[in-house]
Amino acid sequence: MSERSSSSRLAFVSGSCRLLAATAAEFRDTRPFEGLSIGVSIHLEPKTAALIETLAAGGARVVATGNLNSTQAETVAHLAAQGITVIGGPTADPAVHDADLDAVAGEKPDLLLDNGGDLFLRYLAAPWPNLLGGTEETTSGRMRLAPLRDRLALPVLVINDSPIKQFAENRHAVGQSLFEAYLRFTNRSTNGKRVTVFGYGACGRGVAACFANAFARVSVVDIDPVTTLEAHLDGFATPHRDEAVRSADVIVTVTGAAGVLTADDLPLLKDGVILMNGGHFPVEIDADGLAAERSVTAIARSAADDIETFALDDGRVFHLLGRGHMANLAGPRPLGNTIESMDLGFTLQARSLERVAKGGLGAESCVVPVPAEIDRAVASAYLDLWR
Ligand SMILES: NC(=O)c1ccc[n+]([C@@H]2O[C@H](COP(=O)([O-])OP(=O)(O)OC[C@H]3O[C@@H](n4cnc5c(N)ncnc54)[C@H](O)[C@@H]3O)[C@@H](O)[C@H]2O)c1
Repeated sequence: MSERSSSSRLAFVSGSCRLLAATAAEFRDTRPFEGLSIGVSIHLEPKTAALIETLAAGGARVVATGNLNSTQAETVAHLAAQGITVIGGPTADPAVHDADLDAVAGEKPDLLLDNGGDLFLRYLAAPWPNLLGGTEETTSGRMRLAPLRDRLALPVLVINDSPIKQFAENRHAVGQSLFEAYLRFTNRSTNGKRVTVFGYGACGRGVAACFANAFARVSVVDIDPVTTLEAHLDGFATPHRDEAVRSADVIVTVTGAAGVLTADDLPLLKDGVILMNGGHFPVEIDADGLAAERSVTAIARSAADDIETFALDDGRVFHLLGRGHMANLAGPRPLGNTIESMDLGFTLQARSLERVAKGGLGAESCVVPVPAEIDRAVASAYLDLWR
């Protein structure tokens, strides 16, 4: 061996998206998007670059923009170098982001890959005749678009409603990445620690399992008694809420609800407890309410680590990770959900867009889950790759 050349994160991620790579190889022959343009709104980071390149391999002219606050400049430069039209760049300004979305819609794409319903809503505001339909990535987009089915009347397949997405990403990948976030932020052990997980939905199930697999003693709190019974039968402790807070060395919220942990809980917190959130919005742990409480005498911030240590007037301290934002996307070097889970989810995207492009789906497929035959084909292809 002579010399070693460096490789970028983009190359590593692209090489790890094995299902997308196989799909792209097929698309180079079948060209399902020949002559079509696809308007894309999605987090622009290395994993999405692999999706966009797969669509381009299928003959699509892709016009893409990122999401607020998450676009990565290296990814934008990489895509532009591949001849992909990227509108805008990293921005935290909602007005700039809105203008970027307007510009994507202004291209009047034949297909849309939407994330939150922003592009389809623009289509409804000023329709163009050549739109065939597309995909919506998220639950929040589904909730915005479902009431508009009659007006949309085009095939729109909702990726998040695929069972594969539910268990591959929400359960397994979010569980792993929140567990990884705890280790990455704190460098603390899990062995023998008491961990309380609030919420036993798809995400909470994965979080509870990952901490339990790492030798923690995990308790689960869920407001739904049926779900709590399931946690009990799965082998987790299910004490009453206040007892679960009082005993915890680590508390993880992953409910989707606001005000799960508030200043009212301060008297319950164990000295040194670590608080972290995995729910989408930074409202599950009321960070502002905690900071404003009279019994909090000081807050020490480690900016580089994104850890805040709150001191209480009775001598106890507690630590808040990532200011209560999704911990797997906060703190030092957050990488988000695993490449494999996104490889699966994005292959569902590519196959769903292929299905819409092929024609034959009508208004009855407006804002519906991914067809089961796509789920089956994607599952079989993934299993074959890893056998
Ligand atoms: N961090 C990430 O990367 C990531 C990825 C996907 C989803 N999410 C977010 O995680 C959250 C949970 O998602 P999910 O798919 O597990 O949702 P889910 O609806 O499947 O489960 C939520 C659970 O929380 C319970 N719950 C609600 N309010 C509660 C409360 N106050 N106390 C205790 N339990 C309560 C519900 O009964 C339910 O069982 C959402 O905000 C979602 O957007 C985060």
